[in-house]
Amino acid sequence: MAYIVSLLGSKGGSGKTTLSHMLCYGLGLLGHRAAYVMTDGGREAPRPGTLPYVYADGREAPARARIIQALKSREDWIGVVDGGANQMQTDDGLHAESDLVLLPFRDSAEDLRVVCRDLERMPHALALPSQWPSNPWQFKASVRLLESAPEPLHGRILAPVFALSASKQLLQDPLPESLPTALSSACRAVARYLVGLLELDGAPLPAERTALGAAARMTRVVAAREKAGA
Ligand SMILES: Nc1ncnc2c1ncn2[C@@H]1O[C@H](COP(=O)(O)OP(=O)(O)OP(=O)(O)O)[C@@H](O)[C@H]1O
Ligand SMILES: [Mg+2]
Repeated sequence: MAYIVSLLGSKGGSGKTTLSHMLCYGLGLLGHRAAYVMTDGGREAPRPGTLPYVYADGREAPARARIIQALKSREDWIGVVDGGANQMQTDDGLHAESDLVLLPFRDSAEDLRVVCRDLERMPHALALPSQWPSNPWQFKASVRLLESAPEPLHGRILAPVFALSASKQLLQDPLPESLPTALSSACRAVARYLVGLLELDGAPLPAERTALGAAARMTRVVAAREKAGA
């Protein structure tokens, strides 16, 4: 069975493109067939042959529809659709066509406000904290931010994907001959994370996969480490 996964959201710079590439690269490392579908009309297409996975240009609506239909008719492919900021109509169409919609957002009150509005508009979408801080102090502040989201949305906010500066190397042209191990591991981890979400098949997120569930677990781990070190 083929899956269409879209990374959408109205806010610019949230990590849609970087995460799309991380997913495609990581899915390849896990042995899945992934296709990167570009839909952002404001961006240049990658040079032919520069990506280590299949590329499809879905910047125009008719081409996008053809690509999605073609992907859906293939066995065992995962189409990763990279959205663009402020493309609400395109986002709504992709939301209807996708098996999974992820809305990356960064740790700011403005990003949270925008993603909560997008979650209301796209009822099957899940919000994905992206480029998240791993520094303990910043992380604690980020948890308070997440707690400030409207309660009915808490179960639709996923465990965070942490910031990794090396991730920009995936968008380099040409792609470096070898990528840092930390980056390959992060791509593999994010791809596994995606496969786990697809396996849920639309069922509600188990508590440990939500941002606040994951944060509670991490807080317990940090407290235990602090206690052991004291
Ligand atoms: N996990 C990450 N760790 C560190 N930096 C990141 C990460 N993800 C994205 N970035 C950085 O954040 C910036 C924006 O990322 P990206 O271009 O992926 O966002 P976008 O949502 O696709 O933006 P746009 O809406 O303009 O298309 C880039 O400089 C990118 O390198
Ligand atoms: Mg982008």
